Amino acid sequence: MKVEVVLTEADIAQEFAEAMQARDLPEKFFFWSPRSAMAWTELTKEPGLYGGLGETWTSIAGGAGALAQHFGRRVPVISFGAGDGARDRVLMAALKGAGCECLYYPVDASQAMLETACAGADDEDYETTGIKADISSPVHLVYCADAAEPPRLFIMSGNTISAFDPLAEIRYVAQCMHGGDRLIVDGELYHETRTMARRDNAAARKFIFATLSGVGIESDDGEVRFNHKRDERHEGLHLMTRAFRAARDLSATVGGEDVSLERGETIGLNFQYTYTPQSFRWLLREQGGLQILEEYSSADGRFLTAICKK
Ligand SMILES: C[S@@+](CC[C@H](N)C(=O)[O-])C[C@H]1O[C@@H](n2cnc3c(N)ncnc32)[C@H](O)[C@@H]1O
Repeated sequence: MKVEVVLTEADIAQEFAEAMQARDLPEKFFFWSPRSAMAWTELTKEPGLYGGLGETWTSIAGGAGALAQHFGRRVPVISFGAGDGARDRVLMAALKGAGCECLYYPVDASQAMLETACAGADDEDYETTGIKADISSPVHLVYCADAAEPPRLFIMSGNTISAFDPLAEIRYVAQCMHGGDRLIVDGELYHETRTMARRDNAAARKFIFATLSGVGIESDDGEVRFNHKRDERHEGLHLMTRAFRAARDLSATVGGEDVSLERGETIGLNFQYTYTPQSFRWLLREQGGLQILEEYSSADGRFLTAICKK
């Protein structure tokens, strides 16, 4: 297994300690420990997690012939926030069937997720180089993109873009793209009741506590509260937030140091944006400067996936 490390474990441990001090834990820490990665694997077994997105990827794979024609024999596939890489492999299998050789570069901050993605691709005989990097960093993104010569196929799937400020993130990703490159990116569409119900549930709480319990915060130490806000920068951007609120004075242990939390204090947890179809298109076109070549709406109407070029 070949893995290049841009973001070291020492960097992440330092950032995690700082994030706990700041009472604000971004997305990458929820996949970091092997325990969190296992909890994510469990969560992905919930049919409600991604709904119809799997079918969308089957449809995209069905159109692999056109992508193969565009790329020719060799296709570098660079997946930002690859997770277990399962979605990427659906498309790569179709590209292989269309006569392409895929060179696979899964990118993830989590060593455990990256190992899973690399092992899955190795098993299917793709030439694979994992890159351990922070995709919220424009510098890391450029480094990852430069792993292969254009034209490259970039992937950002599973609503991954939405755990960052999507207006900034799409600009950073677009900055990495050249003329012949393609980007497949998806976003979850907002629904007045279902969007919150999909988050505010026992399975999601279990996933969150896999990370919190790693620092000694257990489910009976407080509660996780979910909230919905509108991002006023543009019509149709819905921000789903969650926060842990301590029910009593607590002491968490982070990297051997005690972090005290007073009763009533909160820790901001990872958030997710959801969109109207119009605001997702606006994000790609106006913020990313991208052209949407094809659009796929999942059968359950929950996700919009776009194939874009610069
Ligand atoms: C929601 S999962 C999606 C995984 C996969 N793309 C899919 O479609 O199922 C997000 C992935 O992004 C990774 N991730 C989160 N924040 C990251 C960051 N700042 N840098 C790199 N990877 C990150 C997580 O470790 C996780 O594997």
